[in-house]
Amino acid sequence: MPKSISGFSKLSKRGKLRWIVENFFKDPENVMRELTSYWLSNEEQQRILDGFSENTISNFHLPYGVAPNFVINDKTYAIPMVIEESSVVAAASSAAKFWMTRGGFRAKVIDTQKVGQVHFSWSGDFSQLEAIFPELEIALREDAASITHNMEKRGGGILKITPIDLTHQEPNYYQLKVTFETCDSMGANFINSVLESFGQTLERFVAQREDFSEQERALTVIMAILSNYTPQCVVRTWVECKVEDLGHFSGGMDAEAFADKFSKAIRIAQIDPYRATTHNKGIFNGIDAVVLATGNDFRAIEACGHTYAARDGQYRSLSSCTVENSVFRFWLDLPLAVGTVGGLTKLHPMARRSLELLGHPGAEELMMIIAATGLAQNFAAVRSLVTTGIQQGHMKMHLMNILNHLEASDKEKEATIDHFMDKVISFNAVRLFLDGLRVRKGKTTVSKRF
Ligand code: MEV
Repeated sequence: MPKSISGFSKLSKRGKLRWIVENFFKDPENVMRELTSYWLSNEEQQRILDGFSENTISNFHLPYGVAPNFVINDKTYAIPMVIEESSVVAAASSAAKFWMTRGGFRAKVIDTQKVGQVHFSWSGDFSQLEAIFPELEIALREDAASITHNMEKRGGGILKITPIDLTHQEPNYYQLKVTFETCDSMGANFINSVLESFGQTLERFVAQREDFSEQERALTVIMAILSNYTPQCVVRTWVECKVEDLGHFSGGMDAEAFADKFSKAIRIAQIDPYRATTHNKGIFNGIDAVVLATGNDFRAIEACGHTYAARDGQYRSLSSCTVENSVFRFWLDLPLAVGTVGGLTKLHPMARRSLELLGHPGAEELMMIIAATGLAQNFAAVRSLVTTGIQQGHMKMHLMNILNHLEASDKEKEATIDHFMDKVISFNAVRLFLDGLRVRKGKTTVSKRF
């Protein structure tokens, strides 16, 4: 059986799927039927989806959920979330409800600058570069004018171009560091087009310098690309209330004890990178889900967030908490480069609907919504950790997944949930209980063994 192929991309979609099922699956006809069953019946919509990527053979579905009751800066949102992990949407919703009656989430955008770099190799001295820079900058901006024209009309464009000497780290290595404002778009294509234009201008400009030696006229652009690290595209979101207004928690824990334990948990995540990683993962459970639902780039957001979490040289919690003068404050500062125009945001039918559900926010409002969802998620996770433990909630969802898997009826579900209220849940224990239930009810078939 051939496991490699040349010309795969030239095959039709059905041809690609046929080759895959015939070469990698034991039951090709069934798999063919199953994977084609996930194709959208609306051919136009399927064509749009297929256009986003390459070599598509089917669609991979993920749940699209909603967390209602999010009050952010006094406005109430129902937030769309795309995520495969159980409990995340429930946790966000419960934190949203908790804070709804305590003033809601506050948020503000601190800055919106994006960054790009032209990395180049050059044998000249940095002082020569500095000397020609004012003239070079004019040429760079002029040559990129056709690309920047529309963005400037929208109020954005190139903010600053800075030459940087890195020859102490790598021989002949210099950079142009460029900052941008891209308004409501994430701006990746815009930034990269400008940077590539800068690269060409830079090489040409230096090659034409008659005051440079022949060697100095040979400048090589290594690469021109945006940076996903945007520490100046930052949003802050926070919640706060009097400690006494936090209320009571499971196991009879009072507000003071909760605030104390909660704030210690946050400090632990600031001290210990092992805990910080899981802690921030919880934040990204919320963030990624909204980023995905709105057609933004979750890999870029994650990469940036984690670099930011390590900005002082150690990986730490992205969120912070204080309890001072009987006031509980919990906040998150996060770089978030997102867009509400361009990219997938209008092309993906569900992303378009998500933005509609959010009331057509601009990029800054979306930054605040996403950050608040991350903070809510973090609040819910740490609240569970320092009160009941995380497994209680997880296991409830896990039990439902097992019951669905075993095709339990509503009555069987009810009885099983009751039974496992105070017992350890495992797949086997649930299956045995359900089998017992079915035998008692005179059903001849017991659940399948998986
Ligand atoms: C699970 O997806 C996320 C948590 O582990 C986050 C945390 O520990 O803070 C619950």
